[in-house]
Amino acid sequence: MASPGDFTDFDHHSNTYENVWSRYEKMRDTCPVAHSDQHGGFWVLTRYDDVKKAARDTEAFSSAQGVRVPNIGGGQSIPLDTDPPVHTEYRRLFTQALTPDRVRELRPFLRGCVDELVDAFFAQGGGDAIADIAVLLPLRVLTEVIGFSEQTVAQLPALTTASWTKIATMSLHEARAEIRNLVEAEIERHRSGDVVDELSRLLDAEVDGRPIEHDELVRVLQSFATAGHETTTNALGGVIHTLAADPALQDLLRAEPELIPGFVEECLRVRSPAQQLGRVTTCEVEIGGRTIPEGERVLLSFAAANHDSSRFAEPDRVDLGRSARGHLAFGWGVHQCVGAALARQELVLLVEKLCALPRIGLAATPESGTTQGGIHLGLRTLPIEFEPVSAGTDR
Ligand code: HEM
Repeated sequence: MASPGDFTDFDHHSNTYENVWSRYEKMRDTCPVAHSDQHGGFWVLTRYDDVKKAARDTEAFSSAQGVRVPNIGGGQSIPLDTDPPVHTEYRRLFTQALTPDRVRELRPFLRGCVDELVDAFFAQGGGDAIADIAVLLPLRVLTEVIGFSEQTVAQLPALTTASWTKIATMSLHEARAEIRNLVEAEIERHRSGDVVDELSRLLDAEVDGRPIEHDELVRVLQSFATAGHETTTNALGGVIHTLAADPALQDLLRAEPELIPGFVEECLRVRSPAQQLGRVTTCEVEIGGRTIPEGERVLLSFAAANHDSSRFAEPDRVDLGRSARGHLAFGWGVHQCVGAALARQELVLLVEKLCALPRIGLAATPESGTTQGGIHLGLRTLPIEFEPVSAGTDR
C-alpha cells in the first residue's frame, strides 16, 4: 500500500481523458485516501464507498467554504457552496424550476431542438458534433427553462471557459464578473418588461420567509447559467463519441430502443463529465482507514468512484446488461444534481434521434482537453460523418 505522500504532485487540473482513468486506478488501488501538495494541499477520495459516504455526510464534509480546489475567496455559488439548513432553502428555488412535471412538459420543446440541430447536422453531411450539437443544445434549453435571451446564452461558453483559467489566481466572484454582468442585464430586462418565465418568477421568490435579495438572485441565476451547459455539453459529446466508435451498438439501440435510457446512464457513469468537487472537513474524520484532520480540503472524485471495480465490474466498459443505478455522475446526497432529469431527457432524445438516421462514424480523431476548472472533462472536437445509405437498406 502506498502512503498519502506518494501522490503529492497530483493535480486534477491536468487530467485528460487519456490519462485520468489510469491515474485514478493507481490511486484507488494503492492509496484510496491520498494527499496532494498542489493548490495549497488537498486530499483525494477515489473509492466508491468513501466518495458516497463523504457526499452524504454534510456535517463532516462541508460545501460552505466552496467546492472548487483551489477556492480563492471562499464559497460563493448558490446552492453548491452551502450546507443545510441554508442549502435546503436555496435548493428549493432550483427544484421548483426543474420538477419532473416541468421536464415532462418540456419534452416537445426539447425534441424540437434536438430534431432541428441533428437534421441540420445530417443535411450538411456531419461535422464537429461538439460545436454543432453538444454546445448548442444545452444553451437553447437554458433560454426556455430560465428565460435567458439567445444573445445571453451565446456568450456563456466562452465566458465560462475563460473563468476556469482565472480561478487558479482569483476568486470565483472576480473570475465570473462578466457572467455576473450578463445576469444583471437579464434581471433588468425582466424587471422592466412584461415577460413571464422562470426568471420573472424568481424576481419575487422568497428565501426563509423573506424576499430574495438582489445578490442572492444574481448568484442563483449565475448557477443556472453555468451549472447546466458545460456538464451537458460534455455528456452529449460522450454519448455521440461512444456511439460513433461502435456501429454494432448503434444497430442494437436502433433495434431495441428501450435500451437507450440504460445506455445513457452507462455513458454518464463511464465518462463522468463532472469529474470531482471538493468539501472541507469540519472535524477530524476517519475515512477509508485514514484520519483527515479538521479544516482540510477533500476532493470527492465521482469519476474515480464510477470506475471502482468493487462496485462496477469491468468499470471502463459501457455494459448495457448492468444497472448503472447508484452511479455518482450527478453526485450523491443533498447536493445531487437538480438538473439530472433535464440532462437525462436531452441525452435520451438525442440518442433516439441519431438512431433514426444512418449510422455515424468518426471522421477523424477527436480532440480532448484537460479538466476545466479541475472539474469538467469532455471532448473539444468530435468529427462525425454519416455512413452512406446503400440501396435496399432501410436506413
Ligand atoms: C449531464 C449533465 C450534468 C452533470 C454530469 C451534472 C453534475 C452535477 C454534480 C456532480 C453535482 C453535485 C455537486 C456536489 O456534490 O457538490 C451537480 C449539482 C448541480 N447541478 Fe448538475 N449536472 C448536469 C446537468 C445540470 C443541469 C442541466 C443543470 C441545470 C439546468 C444543473 C444544475 C445543477 C445545480 C444547480 C447543482 C447544485 C445542486 C446543489 O448544490 O444542491 N446540472 N451537478
